[in-house]
Amino acid sequence: MICLRAKPLIEKTQEYLVKLRRSLNQAPRLDVLLIGNHEASAIYVGRKKQAAQDIGIDVVIHHISDHASQDHVEKLISMLNNESNCSGILLQLPLPAHFNVMKLLTLIDPAKDVDGFHPLNKGNHLDNFAAFVPCTALGVSRLLKFYNINLQSKNVLVLGRSAIVGKPLAIESLHQNATVTIAHSATKNLPDLVKQADIIMSATGHFGVIQWDQVYEHQIIIDVGIHRHNGDIVGDLGKKPAEKIVAAYTPVPGGVGAMTVNSLMYNIFKAYCLQKQSGCWADIAQSIDALTL
Ligand code: GUN
Repeated sequence: MICLRAKPLIEKTQEYLVKLRRSLNQAPRLDVLLIGNHEASAIYVGRKKQAAQDIGIDVVIHHISDHASQDHVEKLISMLNNESNCSGILLQLPLPAHFNVMKLLTLIDPAKDVDGFHPLNKGNHLDNFAAFVPCTALGVSRLLKFYNINLQSKNVLVLGRSAIVGKPLAIESLHQNATVTIAHSATKNLPDLVKQADIIMSATGHFGVIQWDQVYEHQIIIDVGIHRHNGDIVGDLGKKPAEKIVAAYTPVPGGVGAMTVNSLMYNIFKAYCLQKQSGCWADIAQSIDALTL
């Protein structure tokens, strides 16, 4: 049974990115738009900031009042689009209800869209053209590759169909020649689908939609969820019983969440290199892809 810990891959990626950063004469810069006082968002943004600063990326956090107008945020995004020192723009979600989220995401320059949420990047990702891939899906792909897990002809069951996680995970799996099923709140025969799966990727946003006693010994479990339950931090499937055997699983914490933050760093360097045409991103991406255990 393999525990798919993010730490060894993150350490190797960081080491590589620190060297890459030293070779650049200017720091990449991430601009984060944090609107309102969403507690979880503030924690996530704090982690992203720390990870970025650890490898020499400049970070500017734009704390914006939840009473700010759509127009105010649009003007800020337009200004950052035109600011050559800004490499990446991240609009932390969710936003207060009065904002038109799609309009804001669409306004971000696709070349600075390090979250991969702009429709152009989404469409290019769907068709397997060059794109910024959303960080969770990219993180899962990178982690599976690092542990030599090949999705070719495997039955992948994705639980959840969100635009940010479920759909990009399904698309990534499809690009790796998996046979992909997406289950969601209206899916009827979930136990049958679980039985047929080789790999289960749970991104339901809810605790316990499937639990550890429902999965099988030969399966690989990728748990995207993070919940506080009975004083523990656990994934969608809850706390893994020590005696439960599966082929491989991602720990929570220390699995997909950590890879999501690390893949944001990857996307920031990608944005910087493609904008500045300094160094060849294709070679850099290949070197990062080639990091092995
Ligand atoms: N909210 C939850 N996850 C994410 C993410 O990956 N990016 C952004 N921008 N907001 C989020």
